Amino acid sequence: MAPKTSSDADARRVRRCRVCNSKDLTLVLDLGETPLANSYLERPTDPERRFPLRLLFCNDCSLVQLSHIVRPDLMFRDYAYRSSSSATVREHVRELAEYLHANFLTSSKDLVVEIGSNDGSLLGAFKGLGSRVLGVDPAKNLARIANERGLETIPEFFDASMAHQIRQTRGPARIIIGNNVFAHVDDLHDLMGGVAALLDEGGVFSIEVPYLGDLNQNVEYDTVYHEHLSYFAVHPIETLFAQFQMGLLSVTRLEIHGGTIRVIGTKSKKRIPRSPFIDLERKCGLDRLETFRDLGYRVEYQKSYLKYTLDKIKSEGRAIVGYGAPAKSNTLLNACGIGTETLDYVIDTTPEKIGKYTPGTHIPIYETERFRRDQPPYALMLAWNYEKEIILKERDYTGQFIIPIPYPRILSKNPGQ
Ligand code: TYD
Ligand code: ZN
Repeated sequence: MAPKTSSDADARRVRRCRVCNSKDLTLVLDLGETPLANSYLERPTDPERRFPLRLLFCNDCSLVQLSHIVRPDLMFRDYAYRSSSSATVREHVRELAEYLHANFLTSSKDLVVEIGSNDGSLLGAFKGLGSRVLGVDPAKNLARIANERGLETIPEFFDASMAHQIRQTRGPARIIIGNNVFAHVDDLHDLMGGVAALLDEGGVFSIEVPYLGDLNQNVEYDTVYHEHLSYFAVHPIETLFAQFQMGLLSVTRLEIHGGTIRVIGTKSKKRIPRSPFIDLERKCGLDRLETFRDLGYRVEYQKSYLKYTLDKIKSEGRAIVGYGAPAKSNTLLNACGIGTETLDYVIDTTPEKIGKYTPGTHIPIYETERFRRDQPPYALMLAWNYEKEIILKERDYTGQFIIPIPYPRILSKNPGQ
């Protein structure tokens, strides 16, 4: 596959840190040039565009960030990811709505705004608890689904001017939520300006981001793709919030999506003490360049180990398929050079992905039923962050799952039985 590089007009090179504006950025990981992770192909011969996939470390605030930013409308206008597609996520958003509702809302008139509200799973849970809700999501296909479910959703990018407009027409928000959205945003200062303007005094801003500590510890390099512009530890988040007179109320580590942190910030005139998490991160080296240089070596080792494991199975003449076609699988497959010579097909539950082909590697995507019928001897669990859910669901599978992260493991037969 000869990589085709896209014109520079569609990808901006990062020269300054998104949080602290420093120019002191060092390249720490190079995953080559890959197509956009959610650009599933209608036909394997469709033309594709590739963009550099590299990570930079900020030597001033320690934010880890992509070196090239692809134009957002190429990535987020027609979004294949559906937050309601997994039982784990549905349960997670129900719990979050109950927690925030119980702790931070006082009246049913309080407004809850979700940025990046996807198909409305979380807002639906809030509405079920009697709250007034509003969603904002630039993916028109998802905003339509949410609106059809009676969850009012504005199909645009959230920014400072929209925040003012919402405040004028509906009043201030008591809670603003941005789950898995912070990592996607280039102009964080514009977003935070909007949040600070829309949020009521004493209101809270709750975000969830994949945690850099988990990426580093578990070598989750596949969570790196063009949609994820930043890879957060708590320290750069606190630095950013402080620029908007906001402090951190709490930081919680969660298992979801391969390791996430929920950070709840508040707008308050009172001084909020520094998060104890920051000392913890310093002890783990999350503020040091050497940590991420070392990560680069561990990624290379992991990639070779996975290739070796799969090549060995293929050399014995046994078939392997992929289980799940998440965005992250496309980083893994492209970075390792795994295509149809290794995987016969991948399966996925998302209707929008079935019948299409994986970007860059052109593997056909089928329904789960196909996997259940074929019972292939090996299945590479590309959606490894749902390991427990999948093993339970596929307890009748007679073959063996291969878990790629943190280091390839072949599970014994029927671990779910
Ligand atoms: P996810 O890991 O949530 O996100 P990302 O795309 O950001 O890496 O995506 C999970 C994918 O795995 C999604 O396409 C649905 C698919 N999936 C299945 O096909 N079967 C399953 O049982 C589960 C849990 C997920
Ligand atoms: Zn910085």
